[in-house]
Amino acid sequence: MSGDDVREDLAEQARFLARLTDIGVPWPPGDGDEGASPSHASGGAGEASSGPAAPGDAEARLRAIREELGDCQRCGLAAGRKMIVFGQGSPRAELMFVGEAPGADEDEQGLAFVGRAGKLLTDIIEKGLRMRREDVWIGNVIKCRPPRNRNPEPDEIRACQPFLEAQIRAIRPKVIVALGKFSAHWLLKTAVPITRLRGQLGEWEGIPAMPTYHPAYLLRNPRAKKDLWEDMKVVLELLGRPVPD
Ligand code: URA
Repeated sequence: MSGDDVREDLAEQARFLARLTDIGVPWPPGDGDEGASPSHASGGAGEASSGPAAPGDAEARLRAIREELGDCQRCGLAAGRKMIVFGQGSPRAELMFVGEAPGADEDEQGLAFVGRAGKLLTDIIEKGLRMRREDVWIGNVIKCRPPRNRNPEPDEIRACQPFLEAQIRAIRPKVIVALGKFSAHWLLKTAVPITRLRGQLGEWEGIPAMPTYHPAYLLRNPRAKKDLWEDMKVVLELLGRPVPD
């Protein structure tokens, strides 16, 4: 990246953050009506300084973030994508999953985790965690499919980053689950291999973040499911939900 590119990148980020402030997403984090506390209070409309945004608020913020994203052309992936995969679920989600990038099925449908890996994620949520898929939030580090499902490039991750950050700040879940290496590295700001990182609870702006294996990896390595289950038990405890044996 040239110096000019870096300056333009920074200027674009500054413009973006200014627009987020305009639409009520506080910046820097903790400046406005949302503290960095991981606590997830009941979310009543009168609540202010910590925990999630009031329900309607989070929904409005997510809508504004989607509008801001528009027909995004901020990186080269725009040229090859069919649909932007914004992420979906409940704006009031206590639990948020962050994957890597949309694949072919997600690109077709504009929805995160709807292919084979998505079916396994649904089982993890519904059979394992005993939650409803529509009650959690599911998104990705990047919102457009890389060609031939290659790994996301650093400039693609950088271009998408402010949007994922704004989404997490809008929802303020009680717990985030990082699915796979790219998500874990992005959320926890580390390069430790996922095999060592998984199960090591970290945090993102005060929100507990659990790195674990990506469902696509589990499809190839079913024996690793027992490790994922250990990680999910910690997630259930953090959520204050019953932990099956
Ligand atoms: N893999 C991901 O990381 N995300 C999706 O949405 C689908 C597959």
